[in-house]
Order: sequence, then C-alpha cells, then structure tokens
Amino acid sequence: MAKKEIIERILIPEKELMKRVEELGEEISRDFEGQEVLLVGLLKGSVIFLADLARKVTIPCMLDFMSVTSYGNDIESSGEVRFLKDLDSDINGKNVIIVEDIIDTGLTLREVLKVLKARNPKTLKVCTLLNKVDRRLVDVNVDYNGFNIPDAFVVGYGLDYAQKYRNLNYIGILKLVED
Ligand code: XMP
Ligand code: MG
Repeated sequence: MAKKEIIERILIPEKELMKRVEELGEEISRDFEGQEVLLVGLLKGSVIFLADLARKVTIPCMLDFMSVTSYGNDIESSGEVRFLKDLDSDINGKNVIIVEDIIDTGLTLREVLKVLKARNPKTLKVCTLLNKVDRRLVDVNVDYNGFNIPDAFVVGYGLDYAQKYRNLNYIGILKLVED
C-alpha cells in the first residue's frame, strides 16, 4: 500500500527556535569578540538556520557554503560522503564555524572536519541546530549546540523529507502512514 507522510507533532515551535538561535549568536559573538568569523553552511539543510544565526552575530561575519551528500536513502545516511560543492573562499588562518542543521551519526561532520582541518584554519568550530545524541557512531566535538533531540525523523526550518518541508517555521516529527 502507498504511504504518505504527515507531521505527527511539533517538536520545537518557532518561538523556541528563535530564542535559542539568538543565544547561539550571542555566544559566538562573545567567544570571538574583536575577531572575524566565517560561517560555513552545509547545503541545503542549514540555510534557514544560518540566515537567522548570522543576523544574531554581532561581530564581523562572512558566509560561505559547502555541499556534501551522504550515500543512502532519504532517512538514513550510509557514512560515505561525496563532496558536491566546495567553499569559494580560502580558510587558511580564519576562524571557521561549520553550521549544520542536524548531527545524527556524526559521519558527515567527521569527513567535513577532516577536509577543512587540512586547510589550516586558525580555529575550526562546529555549530549545530539539532543533535541526535543517541544516534552517534563517531565522536565529534560540538561547540555550539541548539537542541538535543530524540531519535525521530524531523523536518522543517531547513530540514527536508524528499526536498519538502524546509519552509516550515518549526521543527516537526515526520511520520509515514498508510494512505
Ligand atoms: P550524519 O549521520 O552523517 O547525518 O550525522 C547528518 C545528515 O543526515 C541528515 N539527517 C536528517 N535530515 N531529518 C532530516 O531532514 C532528520 O531527522 C535527519 N537525521 C539526519 C541530514 O542531512 C544531516 O545533515
Ligand atoms: Mg544536512
């Protein structure tokens, strides 16, 4: 039988997202006071978060983007990462903060960190909106963490299912049900 997807419930409403994003922006601005930061968004899931976060950062801030994809289906990542788009800028000597929508197994981030570290940034930090801590397979250090969430498939505020739902202004739990 065909399946269709529904938003089972709202996990994080817009107001909570906005409050936490503002706090993260303030934290970053405090940590790098008197310096510049380069926010590196991982396309496409991080764009909504990054757009809001950047406007809460009060120190000089630059933006760049990378696109990586993990082989696998819509729900599970396989651990093998393919790089689709590299950064436009040289990160040598810069304060780089990778901005992620969600860290699940940590496999994607581990590969991205390896590649960026080799380019000798001054500092390399990780900022994620969501963190599925129970699903972690590899240890990655998260410097700025929005929310720890349970092991459920979530969409909204940049996160998608089959490219849909990125435009929701909340994080919702998606469920597949019989049509
Ligand atoms: P890993 O396992 O490498 O995966 O940490 C990170 C990437 O997996 C995707 N992902 C999700 N996407 N809802 C989504 O829309 C989810 O609940 C979810 N869990 C993992 C996402 O692309 C993330 O960058
Ligand atoms: Mg992603």
